[in-house]
Amino acid sequence: MIRFEGEFSFSGDKSVTQRAILLGGVAQGETVICGAAQGKDAQTALSCISALGAEVKHLGETLVIKGAPRLKSAVSLDCGNSATCMRLLTGLLSGKGIEATLFGDGSLSRRPMARVAEPLTRLGARIETELGKPPIYISPAFLTGGEIALSIPSAQVKSALMLAGLDAKNGVFVVENHPTRDHTERMLPLFGAPVSVTKTEQGKRIFTQKCGLKGTEIDVAGDLSSAAYFMALGALKGRVLCKNVGVNPTRTGIFKAFKKLGVRFSLSNERTVSGEPRADVLVEKSELKAVKITAEEIPLMIDELPLIAILCLFANGESTVSGASELKEKESDRLSGTVRLIRALGGEAEETTDGWRIRGDTRLVGGDVPTALIGGDHRLCMTAAIALLSSEKGGMLSGVNACNVSFPEFFEKLKSAGAGVE
Ligand code: S3P
Repeated sequence: MIRFEGEFSFSGDKSVTQRAILLGGVAQGETVICGAAQGKDAQTALSCISALGAEVKHLGETLVIKGAPRLKSAVSLDCGNSATCMRLLTGLLSGKGIEATLFGDGSLSRRPMARVAEPLTRLGARIETELGKPPIYISPAFLTGGEIALSIPSAQVKSALMLAGLDAKNGVFVVENHPTRDHTERMLPLFGAPVSVTKTEQGKRIFTQKCGLKGTEIDVAGDLSSAAYFMALGALKGRVLCKNVGVNPTRTGIFKAFKKLGVRFSLSNERTVSGEPRADVLVEKSELKAVKITAEEIPLMIDELPLIAILCLFANGESTVSGASELKEKESDRLSGTVRLIRALGGEAEETTDGWRIRGDTRLVGGDVPTALIGGDHRLCMTAAIALLSSEKGGMLSGVNACNVSFPEFFEKLKSAGAGVE
């Protein structure tokens, strides 16, 4: 591909959509979600709330959820590939007085769940796991509440604890010393649940309290994590305008990486809708410089790191990423998967204990990427596509259905923009 240019919009943010669906599912009355995410993870959240007793209607692009006034007393919930769904539901259901079993697909079954089960248990919940992995078994319990300091920077863990606070006698304080995405903090007040956030020396302390939720209307901005793939093509190959994209500052670590890399980009039409900032983002072809990305920057760009690694291949020197061992705990081990991908295409990268060393300015020849390399991981699949499109010869990418988890329109969008996808 010589040049890539175009104007794009994206379906709704996956993190925001999943939160809106789960909260809508237990809220009293109707919740209307406009511009919801289209991927399998959003469908998973919808089937979980249906299993709990909520009613879901699709009105064109709009979702209407009638929350379950009384949840089913015993449920088995298939969380598919989605750790967000499993971890948030564990917190949300832990004080609802029901029996629930939460299970997932092969990838989710390997992911760590003690990180939610253990602190929730300290709040009074009765939760069991299979040696820290799914399934998760929740039994009725009386939540007293209390204060928990997050042991890892994780928005999923933070959110699970905040949601448990809605059923805890004394409420729940969560102490966060490293910022992570704050969609739950922003959304709960829209459902009528007060959230109080106070600054601490190192970060913040969030308080949620016993409270019923009321249905609301939420308009979801385009998913920045999906748009990022198109932005990367803009930076490497031309000019891309991504319209109506969520630019919540706890998600825009990628913009910080862009600045360091020397990517030319600008934001326009900035506004806030349903408590979340959004903007149009223009990214233009740029000369890239090698970067050093360190631990404190990681949580705000966690899902974009494999893509950032590909940009580093085109920078003028060696880039390093450290403090990113959480990438091993994602839908697949993205730390080793990214290195295998880069090497399969003729690039040079090395895995360190908690990150990568990536050689820039080498020839990215291209080559075939087999299904096993992607390991069913949606982000590695889309990262591989961008790497191939930016390589000299391209190659055959297998296992492309993986993108359906978050961005089913990905390949169609590339194709219709003339990106060289057949
Ligand atoms: C998410 C939080 C992040 C992110 C995931 C979605 C969320 O995970 O990687 O894709 O919606 O809260 P962690 O909170 O575990 O880092």
